[in-house]
Amino acid sequence: MLPDRGKMNSRWEGKTTLKKAHMFCKDTKTGNERNMAGKSAVLWKKVWFKYLAVRAKQKYPEIQLQIKEVFLICNALANYAKPNFMIFGAGYDTPLWTMCNRGGRTVFLEDDRAWYEKIKGLCPGAEIYPVNYHTVYSQWEELIDREEELQIPLPPAVMATPWDVILVDGPCGAYAWSLQQYGVEPPGRMASIFMASRLARNGGDIFIHDCDRTVERVYADRYLQTAHLQKEIRGRTIMRHYRLAR
Ligand SMILES: C[S@@+](CC[C@H](N)C(=O)[O-])C[C@H]1O[C@@H](n2cnc3c(N)ncnc32)[C@H](O)[C@@H]1O
Repeated sequence: MLPDRGKMNSRWEGKTTLKKAHMFCKDTKTGNERNMAGKSAVLWKKVWFKYLAVRAKQKYPEIQLQIKEVFLICNALANYAKPNFMIFGAGYDTPLWTMCNRGGRTVFLEDDRAWYEKIKGLCPGAEIYPVNYHTVYSQWEELIDREEELQIPLPPAVMATPWDVILVDGPCGAYAWSLQQYGVEPPGRMASIFMASRLARNGGDIFIHDCDRTVERVYADRYLQTAHLQKEIRGRTIMRHYRLAR
């Protein structure tokens, strides 16, 4: 049963809805995390997350992900009781993910210090870690099989967590934009896609944004593999959803 629009507009009812969703999740027993939440809890969470997403898009029109891409990620998050959710690249969507995943853990990795400060100011409660990429975009072909060079140092707590859902929307992979804006090549997303493939738990959901671009597409094909592709959303760009099976 879906909440009616009147209820969705009430802050109190909304909170109750979210609480119910988490309560149902807590009541479920052991087994695969994905199947832990009851069907009704999953449905409530999907609806609630999408409501939050629409509100966030209204509040932060700068969010670059399209609403249908956000919805796809919301659906994956709703399948877990308390998801471990990691995002490569902070942005105006940071408050949205932090809010959606209040019951779980949400971690952001950001390499651009000025951008890090800006987003930290926007969402002080967010768990954002500064990271360093040692790649530059133009190395993408020579690095494709050099796994050691694609590794980036991350905090031990991040390395030790089996991530249920990962979104790769960073670091900057826009070559022309970066050259024009900063006068330097961007790091490219070679390392973040590689790290996502290693840090996701077995059966985890990985979303790769901007797969209309060569680097994202080629590295996703190489490290996440077409056999694991669940869905591809085409809009302003292409988002791919993979589910790993090791
Ligand atoms: C594409 S943005 C993240 C977008 C976010 N997921 C969204 O939907 O709004 C990812 C990376 O772009 C870089 N970046 C730097 N300056 C930026 C700017 N002015 N606008 C957007 N991204 C910027 C950041 O380093 C960030 O990690």
